[in-house]
Amino acid sequence: MTSPKTRVAVLISGSGSNLQALIDGQQSGELPIDIVAVISNRPDVRGLERARDAGIDAITLDHKEYDSREAFDQALTEQLDTLQPQLVVLAGFMRILTPAFTNHFAGRMLNIHPSLLPKYQGLHTHQRALEAGDTEHGVTVHFVTAELDGGPAAIQAVVPVAASDDAASLAARVQQQEHIIYPMAVRWFCEGRLVMNENRVLLDGEPLPPGGYQVRNLQPQA
Ligand code: GAR
Repeated sequence: MTSPKTRVAVLISGSGSNLQALIDGQQSGELPIDIVAVISNRPDVRGLERARDAGIDAITLDHKEYDSREAFDQALTEQLDTLQPQLVVLAGFMRILTPAFTNHFAGRMLNIHPSLLPKYQGLHTHQRALEAGDTEHGVTVHFVTAELDGGPAAIQAVVPVAASDDAASLAARVQQQEHIIYPMAVRWFCEGRLVMNENRVLLDGEPLPPGGYQVRNLQPQA
């Protein structure tokens, strides 16, 4: 008997390349997920097109139509609750979230952030790593808590910085790692291997170190 698929809702604001990695994993059967909807806070973004192309419900919930952050998050919570996701995946969802929202989905909401957290929370992470002269940069998948880009880490991919890098070349190499580690984290979650417990992340029952499970130089599968 095959085990049931995990119901996943994906929140986006833009291009949706991480969403695409999840769609590819669902379609190839590598990820035991059923993406029940993709929700964007911005209309007409590429990620919504990717969802529609894959036959997934593509929903726009435009934050500009709400008077306050609380009102938008409340509407988003209601929309998500009707979908009954077991996991909410933030994939380039560029919103600051209210504590009411993060608490509602605590332990079942993941985010990906393009830095080795706790370094470089917020925006322009690649440029900031270059300006600081860092020799290593990367990306973190973490559980979402009320603290912006601050929840406990699940997986971190380390990317060496080359002397010739600019923000665009570094971002491209980081994104390649994003498309590997996000599906990996989602799979572990679906298999019940990855759990958040009292602000710590457990993998196979063992607490992970503060940066989460560390990988480097992962190669995309052929
Ligand atoms: C990704 O690089 C992701 O790490 C970043 O937005 C991009 C979305 O790309 N997320 C954040 O900066 C969150 N703070 P995508 O739409 O092509 O997946």
